[in-house]
Amino acid sequence: MLPDFYSRFLKQLSCVIILMILNEVWVINMILDNLTLSFGVQDIFRNINLSIPKNECIGIVGVNGAGKTTLFKIITGELKLSDRKIILEKNTRVGLLPQVIDEKTLDSDILILDYLLSGRPISILQRKLDKAYDDVSIEKNESKQKSILNKISYLQQMLEYYEVYNAENILLKIIVGMGIEDDLLMQPLKTLSGGQKSKVAFAKLLYSKPEIILLDEPTNHLDKESKDYVII
Ligand SMILES: Nc1ncnc2c1ncn2[C@@H]1O[C@H](COP(=O)(O)OP(=O)(O)OP(=O)(O)O)[C@@H](O)[C@H]1O
Ligand SMILES: [Mg+2]
Repeated sequence: MLPDFYSRFLKQLSCVIILMILNEVWVINMILDNLTLSFGVQDIFRNINLSIPKNECIGIVGVNGAGKTTLFKIITGELKLSDRKIILEKNTRVGLLPQVIDEKTLDSDILILDYLLSGRPISILQRKLDKAYDDVSIEKNESKQKSILNKISYLQQMLEYYEVYNAENILLKIIVGMGIEDDLLMQPLKTLSGGQKSKVAFAKLLYSKPEIILLDEPTNHLDKESKDYVII
């Protein structure tokens, strides 16, 4: 968390701060800006201000019904507010492990390994990059060529972000660390039990490398091995 004087300063200058975040000057990933929400007559949040710096790990504690899941729904955009009360740094990816995993969405024929690999869009990016190289090699128009070159540069940056040359090793470490057995990997996702599905969904979330990971009561889903891995 930021020191108190910092939060007060940010509150007073919220317009300027948005600009600074967009310019990536401040190392802040998320700001809650005077967040207020009611369901009918029930106040859930009243004037919440919070600045969360990068690389910070924060626990939110509240009794049942306090609003923890609702806060996450606001952050992911599932629950829309009339004003923009959550300010995220540009291009910030938010990943969520929901409190209740909808098992039906994981009732798929996809192989577990393919499901995990789909956490990073590496093959899609590589296909787009190949196409862009083909396009630029035949494009005669200079301004169109420039725009394709910009696209190539963006796709290369994305592949770098997803650590294209090391991604499989990273995934393997997550698989081993979370205790997902090898012989499960070539099975269809739908054959897993509820607990195994949760574990695999969590592994995919970790692999997908979002800047912000929201875990809504994750210990509900995880066995000791996975908890130890995540906590370390
Ligand atoms: N869409 C909605 N419409 C009306 N009330 C809602 C809605 N969503 C949540 N609530 C109410 O808002 C309050 C906060 O709910 P929320 O699920 O965010 O709490 P929580 O802190 O996650 O609780 P728990 O620890 O049980 O998961 C509860 O009283 C809930 O009934
Ligand atoms: Mg909840």
